[in-house]
Amino acid sequence: MDKKGLFISFEGVEGAGKTTLIKKLVGFFTDKKQDIFLTREPGGSELGKKLRAIILNAEEKIYPSAELFLFLADRAQHVEECIKPALKAGKIVLCDRFIDSTLAYQGYGRGMDIEQLIMLNTLATNGLEPDLTLLLDLPPQMGLERAKTRNIAQNLTIDEGRFEAEALQFHQKIREGFLTLAKQKKRFFVINAEQNAEEVFYIVKQHIEKSFKFE
Ligand code: TYD
Repeated sequence: MDKKGLFISFEGVEGAGKTTLIKKLVGFFTDKKQDIFLTREPGGSELGKKLRAIILNAEEKIYPSAELFLFLADRAQHVEECIKPALKAGKIVLCDRFIDSTLAYQGYGRGMDIEQLIMLNTLATNGLEPDLTLLLDLPPQMGLERAKTRNIAQNLTIDEGRFEAEALQFHQKIREGFLTLAKQKKRFFVINAEQNAEEVFYIVKQHIEKSFKFE
């Protein structure tokens, strides 16, 4: 029989603290002697790394539908090449953004049809969904401030800034989109990300320990 791992995705507006939480969870699962596969979208696969550079290049004018298909191409490759094999090997897959980012950004943010996007996501993933989606929720103003500080600290250029440069209203729509999605799917766990990183980690850790058994 196939071994089945655990698939956890992380979602939220810019600067919500996904990276910090993921780092802490890597430590948590390592202590529990679990095999982890850490990945992200866009850019999880080899092809995806090239697509990521194209997608996030803020100087390139990319039309919304073209942008959508780049994210979907990245996802299709990522699922087949990386996520499915890792799950089959019994690993815990920690994925920074997945299907819900497309619904939130391209759907609620850019105004594309949600039902069509759900269909296209299904096509790209062959129906694979996370077992758990951790949504870090906070007001976008706060997230953007944090993202700006991070970009300056890491000396990032506009290459990483396509979405961070969008108007606040855009990020507001995305936040609300994520919260709408969270109400529709049982796999979501919403965390108030205004709290500090330790508090967020503690809440998530408790939820995971309650929901899943590790031998
Ligand atoms: P990234 O630098 O990974 O952002 P973050 O650190 O906030 O995760 O850039 C990914 C950007 O792409 C982010 O702004 C969200 C956006 N995105 C979409 O618009 N649609 C998608 O399907 C995915 C996966 C990401």
